[in-house]
Amino acid sequence: MMRVLVTGGAGFIGRKLIARLLKDGQVGGTAISKITCFDVVAAQGLPADERLEIVTGDLSSPTQVGILVGKGQDAIWHLASAVSGECEQDFDLGYRVNLTGTLNVLDAARRAGNVPKMIFTSSVAAFGGPLPDPIPDSQILTPQTSYGAQKAACELFVADYSRKGMIDGRSLRLPTIVVRPGRPNAAASSFASSIVREPLAGEQVVCPVAPEAKMYSLSPRRVVDALIHAITIPSEEIGQVRSLTLPGLTYSQAEMMAALERVTSKKVVDRVEWKADPFVQKIVSGWPTTFTTPRAEKLGFERDSSLEEMIQAHIDDELGGSWAK
Ligand SMILES: NC(=O)c1ccc[n+]([C@@H]2O[C@H](COP(=O)([O-])OP(=O)(O)OC[C@H]3O[C@@H](n4cnc5c(N)ncnc54)[C@H](O)[C@@H]3O)[C@@H](O)[C@H]2O)c1
Repeated sequence: MMRVLVTGGAGFIGRKLIARLLKDGQVGGTAISKITCFDVVAAQGLPADERLEIVTGDLSSPTQVGILVGKGQDAIWHLASAVSGECEQDFDLGYRVNLTGTLNVLDAARRAGNVPKMIFTSSVAAFGGPLPDPIPDSQILTPQTSYGAQKAACELFVADYSRKGMIDGRSLRLPTIVVRPGRPNAAASSFASSIVREPLAGEQVVCPVAPEAKMYSLSPRRVVDALIHAITIPSEEIGQVRSLTLPGLTYSQAEMMAALERVTSKKVVDRVEWKADPFVQKIVSGWPTTFTTPRAEKLGFERDSSLEEMIQAHIDDELGGSWAK
């Protein structure tokens, strides 16, 4: 039997992961007996299930995290994080949640003494500055934002705690997740989902970057697959290098719109107005967008097969199979 902890379980990816774990009832053939969802906000919209425990608390409190992780879960998905925009605006918040909070989880796991498997969600924002094109698996991390620096630092700690045999950790560098359901958020990448999601819902939307602006993305479905797959890989296959860049799709916004038109209609695509916002454009132009990911691919991680698949997954999973015609 497996006991599971998901930090950030009330968030976008956390809720999807928990729903999937409850549905599957097992990971790698081991039955799940309990899932603890931990978040600073009360989790909403999770299935009612006797295996699910919802705990509200702050990751930056070593006492709260110590009590929580001290219960000795077998698998920890550590997703809780302040997002990129917040970390750039509020330096203290980013370091308190993303750095100290992660150290709290690692330290509590060490004290629990049962060497849990732990997945840490890093980001391709850990890369920055002058970069080769494409970026190889071996690229050193030179982040150019506080969020990226916190993610890069935590990758090192996950690797060191694993080397010491305190946890069995794996850090996954996530591409931008598209299509994110709900409303736009504080992330500069928010438009990448909005320009698909809002037209499908019958709403007009402004795209703040040029049609040729590129993204590196993965769908919510594929990221949940990756998070679960990551925990099933034997430790010796991961080896000393505990961080992986996940395979994603590189595309321009114009290519995404062409795919949206193929899946739906010109009428849907015409709901997008192109109006560049120099502030967003500048941030986005600094992002790395092309990667080679042979290591993750060899370990069995998969990208979406096409932009159409990403759009269709949103229509099926979030819109009940149809869109505003
Ligand atoms: N969504 C993406 O495109 C993307 C891309 C790269 C990396 N990631 C990473 O994946 C993880 C999940 O992302 P998401 O999109 O679900 O984000 P999200 O913002 O929807 O969820 C993060 C959750 O963390 C919680 N949280 C924040 N501060 C906390 C604290 N002090 N204590 C406890 N919980 C706290 C939030 O309340 C939120 O529910 C994050 O680590 C994020 O950095 C996401």
